[in-house]
Amino acid sequence: MASYTLKLRRYSPESGDPAFWQEYKVDLDGHRSVLDGILQAKDREDGSIGIRCSCRAAICGSCGVKINGRPGLACHMHLEEAQRRADQNGGVITVEPMGNMPVLKDLIVDMDAVHWKKVQRVTPWLIPEGEHPEREYIVAKEAMVDVTQSMACIQCGACVSDCLSMEVDPLFVGPAALAKAYRFVGDPRDGQQFERLRDLSEDPHGIYDCTHCFNCIEACPKGVAPMSQIMRLRRIAGSDHGIDDRNNGHRHEKAFVDNIEKNGLLHEADLLPDSYGGKFHPRAVPELLASLPVALKGLRRGKITPKKALLHAHKASKDVKRIFERVHDQEKRYELNLYVSGKDEDLPGGEEMQDEQGTEAHGTPASSSAERSPNQA
Ligand code: FES
Repeated sequence: MASYTLKLRRYSPESGDPAFWQEYKVDLDGHRSVLDGILQAKDREDGSIGIRCSCRAAICGSCGVKINGRPGLACHMHLEEAQRRADQNGGVITVEPMGNMPVLKDLIVDMDAVHWKKVQRVTPWLIPEGEHPEREYIVAKEAMVDVTQSMACIQCGACVSDCLSMEVDPLFVGPAALAKAYRFVGDPRDGQQFERLRDLSEDPHGIYDCTHCFNCIEACPKGVAPMSQIMRLRRIAGSDHGIDDRNNGHRHEKAFVDNIEKNGLLHEADLLPDSYGGKFHPRAVPELLASLPVALKGLRRGKITPKKALLHAHKASKDVKRIFERVHDQEKRYELNLYVSGKDEDLPGGEEMQDEQGTEAHGTPASSSAERSPNQA
C-alpha cells in the first residue's frame, strides 16, 4: 500500500467563494485509479467533494477531469502513473475540472451547456433515404469499418476540454460533435451526406474552424482521433462533393497544399491571395487591403522584409515532389482507419496495408463513401 497526495480544485457556487485547491492524503496501491483515490478522500475525509462517475471502467465517460493539467478519465489513470507524471511538475497529483465548460461544483462541469448542445447541433441520428425496410438495415461489414473509430466515442468531453479552437471561438462545433457528425456522414445508410457536409462547411464555426492543434487526438482516451474525423469530413466535402464554402475553407486548404507542392516550405505571402483565387482576383483585393496594417507592422518590426515577402527562395525538393506525385497517381483516396488493427483476411473489399513503420491498418477506398450518397453535388 502506498500513500499519495491528491490536490483537488474545489468550487462551490452556493458559497460565493472563489475556487481553491485542497490536498488529501490517500492510501492505495499504485495500480488503483485516480478516481479510487478521490472516492477514498470523499469517503474518509470530506463527503462534500463533487465528482461524477459511474462505471469505473472507462466505459461510461462520466469521470472526465484534468489530471496534472491534461484531460482524461479519472478511472483510467493509475495513481502510480499520475504520480510519475506529477513528479515532473513538483510532485503532487493535481485534479481539476475539464476546460471549455462551466464548472457546476468541484470536479463536475456542465456538459449540457456545451458538449451535449454541440452534439445536438450535428443531428446525431441516422436519416435514411426512402422507405424503411421491413426488417433491419443490412450493411456490408467493410462499409462500417470506416466509422468504427468515431463510434468508439464515449462522450467524456476530454477532447472538448483541450480544444484550442473552442477556447478562441466558443461557438466552434468542436471535436466531439464533429467526430459524431462523421459517424453519420460515413454511414452508408444515411441519405443526407451532402446536406450534412454543406451545413458544416458553410457554418463559420464548422469543419473549417479547426486549426489542427492535435490536442483532441492526444486527449481522447479511446483513440477516436476527432481531428482525423474532421479532416475526413473536409476531404469528402471539398474533394468529393466540391462544396465551395462561403468561409473560403476549402480554397484555403487547396492553396496551402499547392503552395507546399510548389515551394516545399510555405510561402506565407502567397497563401492569402491564393486562398482567394490569386493576387488580382476581385475576392482577394479586399482581403489583401485588410491585411495591410498587419503587413506594415511586420515590416516595421523587421519580421518580414520586402524581399522575403515578394520572393521565396525555396523550391520544392525532389523528395517533396515525389510525395505529391505518389498521391496524385493514386486512383482512389484511401481513408486509413487506424483504430481497427490486426489481421482480418476475411474482410471483403477492405485492404490491409502497412506503412513504413510497419503499423497495420485497414483502408477503405474513400470514393466508396461518396458513391454511397445519392445526393452528390
Ligand atoms: Fe465511467 Fe470513468 S467512471 S468512464
